[in-house]
Amino acid sequence: MAEFHEISPNAAAGEKLLNWIDNRFPLSKLFKEHMSEYYAPKNFNIWYVFGVLSLLVLVIQIVTGIFLVMHYKPDAALAFGSVEYIMRDVPWGWLIRYMHSTGASAFFLVVYLHMYRGLIYGSYRKPRELTWLFGCGIFLALMAEAFMGYLLPWGQMSYWGAQVIVNLFSAVPFIGPDLALLIRGDFVVGDATLNRFFSFHVIAVPLVLLGLVVAHIIALHEVGSNNPDGIEIKATKGPDGIPLDGIPFHPYYSVHDIFAVSVFLMVFSAIIFFAPEMGGYFLEYNNFIPANPFQTPLHIAPVWYFTPFYSLLRAVTGEMMYVLVACVIAGALWSVVKIRMPAFFKALIVGGAIAVVAMMLSIDAKFWGVVAMGGGVVILFFLPWLDNCAVKSIRYRPSWHKYLYAIFVINFLMLGYLGLQLPSAIGSRLAQAGTLFYFGFFILMPWWSRMGTTKPVPDRVTFKAH
Ligand code: HEM
Repeated sequence: MAEFHEISPNAAAGEKLLNWIDNRFPLSKLFKEHMSEYYAPKNFNIWYVFGVLSLLVLVIQIVTGIFLVMHYKPDAALAFGSVEYIMRDVPWGWLIRYMHSTGASAFFLVVYLHMYRGLIYGSYRKPRELTWLFGCGIFLALMAEAFMGYLLPWGQMSYWGAQVIVNLFSAVPFIGPDLALLIRGDFVVGDATLNRFFSFHVIAVPLVLLGLVVAHIIALHEVGSNNPDGIEIKATKGPDGIPLDGIPFHPYYSVHDIFAVSVFLMVFSAIIFFAPEMGGYFLEYNNFIPANPFQTPLHIAPVWYFTPFYSLLRAVTGEMMYVLVACVIAGALWSVVKIRMPAFFKALIVGGAIAVVAMMLSIDAKFWGVVAMGGGVVILFFLPWLDNCAVKSIRYRPSWHKYLYAIFVINFLMLGYLGLQLPSAIGSRLAQAGTLFYFGFFILMPWWSRMGTTKPVPDRVTFKAH
């Protein structure tokens, strides 16, 4: 048990209250550990605000979600009408709903930027692998949360989007049809689907998300933050044991974050008040039409934040399977010829490749599309063990790495754009090339990340007082 601290009877009332609490709950200790005595590198830049902004959007989504649930009806016959009721009749209901729908897009925007920061500064590398893994878990949970939330307004896009995605699961060999049935709770998307998605969206996934976010931050604070130089500040400590390049998070970064939150809220409000549909990208126009199981919309496209991964799915056609088979064969041949290993392992690789190719050719391309879509996210989990570069930050990597990362971003945006469009001959080819690049970037990373000459990394972080 912690020692009981006495306080002078002449202390101010606030101090007495804090002392009373601290003797029963480690409030000051937690504040010190995570705020006023959490030493963050002094060279943080703009990229470091997106973690806090993700936290802010998480809170916005939870609070607005609680108010939406007060009037929303999770019933296939009533859901669409209840959302219209919220928009038109519930006092301030339109604001709460627009905050929640805009919040969904804002969440992905800030989380994508947050992840990209991790990518360019090598924040996923030792000792922050678990911070990254919890982050990837958060990203998966976020995707599930958004997907299930999108069914709830029970509009045409909600309905048909869910129908398309859930049907994909039926492509899984052997268990597919039963799996799709389990997810839907019916043979088509219906009331049972709406009820289970509602239950997952309002309680199950948010609980997982919150737990993961807490784990994410605990893991980060255990090892300390990375920084744009990718240098461990804990390696250079002063006589007091405090990193020489560290500054207390509070007040130095809390004040930065308040500024970032203010700017974010201005943009967020501008969107809510002036362009909540964002030209159909945040709220799709077809979703203002009630779900009609007898009328398939001409063009079913997911919301923008899913489209890069949707493009990976659509890229895997029967024709593309031959290209992928060729990649597997080339990979196996390369490793057998180039890597020195006992004959037994070579035989194992050849055998494995034959089995994989046989599976690839015997199972429908639709299934491999699903694998590509899921794999596009799952591969992120492996990043800490794929990157072999001698330095962490993009600043000290060979210059051409910068171009490679730029192409990665352009490719990701292109996949996102193509996923929004109706399939076309040229679009499909581009998506296929983009898919190969996306996976090539990660799968070949153990090799290309080692290539080229890195720049000398300074001992201390680079920082110009401003
Ligand atoms: C709800 C979503 C998320 C929240 C609330 C969140 C919150 C935070 C916060 C507050 C920080 C410290 C401040 C900062 O460095 O920006 C942080 C750091 C970090 N996050 Fe997240 N995060 C989320 C999602 C993710 C995702 C999806 C990933 C990656 C897949 C990720 C990877 C990281 C990494 C690697 C760091 C350490 C960065 C560094 O020290 O350079 N986070 N996160």
